[in-house]
Amino acid sequence: MSDKSRVFVWTMLLSSLCHPIQAFLLSGGDVCFGICNCVEEDMPFQYFHIYKADVKMVRCEERNLRSIPNFAIQNLPSGFYPGGKNFTVDLHNNYIQTVPDKAFGDLPKLSNVDLFGIILYNNSISSLSDSAFLGLENTRVVVDLALNNFTTIPQALRILRKIELLEIEDNPIMTLDPSMIQHISPVLGFSINLTLYNSWPVELNNLHVKGVLFYGFSGSSFQNFNVHGIGHRAIEFEIGGTDIVDLSDVICNNQINVSKLWVWDNYKLDIMPFERCSQGTVMQSLLDFQLTGIYLARIPNFVHTLTKLEWLELAFDNIYEINANDFRGLTELKGLYLDNNRIKTIHPNAFDTNTKLRELILNDNMLTHIPDMVVNLNLEFFKMDAIDCTCSSLQNLKQVNATFANDVACFNVPSLPFTPFVKDALAQCS
Ligand SMILES: *[C@@H]1O[C@H](CO)[C@@H](O)[C@H](O)[C@H]1NC(C)=O
Ligand SMILES: *[C@@H]1O[C@H](CO)[C@@H](O)[C@H](O)[C@H]1NC(C)=O
Ligand SMILES: *[C@@H]1O[C@H](CO)[C@@H](O)[C@H](O)[C@H]1NC(C)=O
Ligand SMILES: *[C@@H]1O[C@H](CO)[C@@H](O)[C@H](O)[C@H]1NC(C)=O
Ligand SMILES: *[C@@H]1O[C@H](CO)[C@@H](O)[C@H](O)[C@H]1NC(C)=O
Ligand SMILES: *[C@@H]1O[C@H](CO)[C@@H](O)[C@H](O)[C@H]1NC(C)=O
Repeated sequence: MSDKSRVFVWTMLLSSLCHPIQAFLLSGGDVCFGICNCVEEDMPFQYFHIYKADVKMVRCEERNLRSIPNFAIQNLPSGFYPGGKNFTVDLHNNYIQTVPDKAFGDLPKLSNVDLFGIILYNNSISSLSDSAFLGLENTRVVVDLALNNFTTIPQALRILRKIELLEIEDNPIMTLDPSMIQHISPVLGFSINLTLYNSWPVELNNLHVKGVLFYGFSGSSFQNFNVHGIGHRAIEFEIGGTDIVDLSDVICNNQINVSKLWVWDNYKLDIMPFERCSQGTVMQSLLDFQLTGIYLARIPNFVHTLTKLEWLELAFDNIYEINANDFRGLTELKGLYLDNNRIKTIHPNAFDTNTKLRELILNDNMLTHIPDMVVNLNLEFFKMDAIDCTCSSLQNLKQVNATFANDVACFNVPSLPFTPFVKDALAQCS
């Protein structure tokens, strides 16, 4: 998926393609368990909102491990006892093949662990011992098993009564047990590959979830789709990398409440059901909508009828112009992401009703100056390609105090020796 999707930090339902490996070192770094480092870190990237605060981490990632180290509690550095902290064991990017009984030793017994994270993505695991998670029965857990070799959701998870997040995408899942789906529900975050399915697996209709990623699917529709939210809460959907053509079983479903729908890299997707069902429950409940990587040419008609929208991304869609009414009526819109299209013209009244717009992304298009109506917006975050910075082209910027444009690059200010930005060019023009 495109990187700038991360700008949607407010919802932070992160696709698991962006794992929280970039963590800031706060303290410590003591070697522990032979080959790991025990550190206290702040995680700027979160798993589906889960980790907000700092977390004690046993970092064993990228250690060429073939098996799980012996996590004997006496080998923890002194002073590293959790005492109410979130605690994570990070084993990603290794070559681990199996996870034995009670793999996390006595770590779970440490008092007052709020939330225990087990990060095993990108290993070669095809099975977990049924007692692998012994000791964590009643602890809130986050389990990341993505990019391994599981063909089903492992039975070992049955021991865990409080799974908050389960990431298992990028595994060759071929069987799903409805009682297992029921067991992991309700779950805040869940991700899975349906690459080996060419029709919707009805077993997944037992899922009660806050945020879910379906990555890869070989069928053309989700016929019989009926995933549930938690209680009456809205669901956040992400559907990417599929062969899906017809999404009407999701977007025309009147039983579900959807606050976020990100649909990316589904090249064959038909846009008609979106138009047809735009006045239905799902489309009308959307706050955050992303439709990227398909051929649209124009902003589809239904978009301006989604009046609750706060965040909208239509990137990589071959859009070449923005018309006067494309976003008319989107009065709640805070962020608009239109990068990587072929936009040459934007109608002067295109943003007239988007008075709450604060973030606008226009880079990788065919615009050579900042249009007047953009200058007049009250933006806090703005991105576009290098523009023509001759003084005559910057007239509109001189008239208002559009500081948000200061850091846009210029492709031509011959009088300046360095690569200039709008602020440099403006100084020259005064
Ligand atoms: C642990 O994480 C949860 C969920 O993000 C958070 O609410 C809680 O404050 C964290 N606990 C500590 C002690 O940092
Ligand atoms: C998986 O881990 C191996 C070993 O550390 C690494 O070489 C590889 O790049 C990783 N793959 C991904 C997709 O992260
Ligand atoms: C996954 O499992 C299959 C079948 O057992 C095996 O052939 C393959 O090598 C495994 N792949 C990895 C990355 O462990
Ligand atoms: C998961 O889906 C993605 C997107 O279609 C695909 O590239 C990847 O190979 C799939 N992984 C597995 C293990 O099937
Ligand atoms: C939809 O979800 C929102 C947010 O979770 C909630 O406030 C609202 O009551 C729900 N609406 C229905 C009809 O369930
Ligand atoms: C322009 O706006 C910036 C930030 O809002 C402010 O700091 C600056 O003083 C303003 N300049 C003028 C000339 O009004």
